[in-house]
Amino acid sequence: MQKQEAVSAAGRSATDNYDRLQELRSFDESKAGVKGLVDSGVTEVPRIFIRPPEGLPPADNSNNAQFIIPVVDFAHLETNRPTVVARVRRAAEEVGFFQVVNHGMEPKLLEAMLAGVRAFHELPAEEKREYYSREMSRKVKYMSNFDLYQSDYANWRDTLFCVMGPEPLDPVELPPICREVIMEYSNRVHQLGTTLFELLSESLGLHSDYLKEMDCAKGQAVLGHYYPACPQPQLTMGTTKHADPDFLTVLLQDQIGALQIHYGNRWIDVPPVPGALVINIGDLLQLMSNDKFKSVEHRVLANRVGPRISVACFFTPHLYPSTRMYGPIKELLSEDNPPLYRETTVKDFIAYYDSKGLDGNSALTHFRV
Ligand code: OGA
Ligand code: NI
Repeated sequence: MQKQEAVSAAGRSATDNYDRLQELRSFDESKAGVKGLVDSGVTEVPRIFIRPPEGLPPADNSNNAQFIIPVVDFAHLETNRPTVVARVRRAAEEVGFFQVVNHGMEPKLLEAMLAGVRAFHELPAEEKREYYSREMSRKVKYMSNFDLYQSDYANWRDTLFCVMGPEPLDPVELPPICREVIMEYSNRVHQLGTTLFELLSESLGLHSDYLKEMDCAKGQAVLGHYYPACPQPQLTMGTTKHADPDFLTVLLQDQIGALQIHYGNRWIDVPPVPGALVINIGDLLQLMSNDKFKSVEHRVLANRVGPRISVACFFTPHLYPSTRMYGPIKELLSEDNPPLYRETTVKDFIAYYDSKGLDGNSALTHFRV
């Protein structure tokens, strides 16, 4: 009986003899996020963020396996198309992650986007707090840890979350300090996403428009992450290991590093490449491709230096899910390649993913037949 009580909501484990839920609430009610803690001068990581050593990287976490993350050059895409398709296919099948250079988005725009997200998070706490919310239906909100009350350990990260499509967002809903740049960036990522879905369709041997016609490119959520410098990075994590709950993610990271993917039983750094965008396959595309493409687990380490800024654009209908069913693509199936998943709506998939929080397990398992 006592044990049951001890493993209650909000990740209170048997070894915790403090009121975790109370501490989560008071952190949440500050509406100032991890940035607020750092500004208040904390020199120790509060216990809601502390994880047991098993889940944390060893102190000498260096690896020189960076070459594993492929870099694909989109220059002269029309004339190079077969080569690019072959590279995208290999990357999507083997690693699930790749970086794209010469994607057509100006370095200036990428810089401005990182600066815009940073500027938002560095607004005075009074100005930011009106955006702080966990309301599911709110299109533009800022919060620390979307799964604060679901997961066992909080992450050293705050996020500005904006649902940009498929229904166009009225720009006035965005914070003025980053309004213009988010609109511009999101439009351009939408164009790049369209190209990526064409290349990925071709990689699967389908006609170019296949994934677009399945509405994969329609919805977009922009997550502007802020990872403050952490006084005790060995005790916590920037983002717990997870796979993404979308079709595809386009990630912009600054020069600090700390993003790693789980590959061949090791954690491999995704090195910052100036001007590049990091692309990764999401769970829904792994499901549709019947495991041909890999939605790979990744995480972000906490860091003594910071802030680290990153912007993840999730291709997902999110707040506007249709009744469309997603399952393994029929054209890919055969006697030798039977469906590995049951069909689901995006809504049901996301509801399951969110109810679970980032617990280190794949949400896809739940949909396997
Ligand atoms: C994510 C994510 C990585 C990063 O938003 O899902 O994995 O570098 N972000 O912030
Ligand atoms: Ni992710």
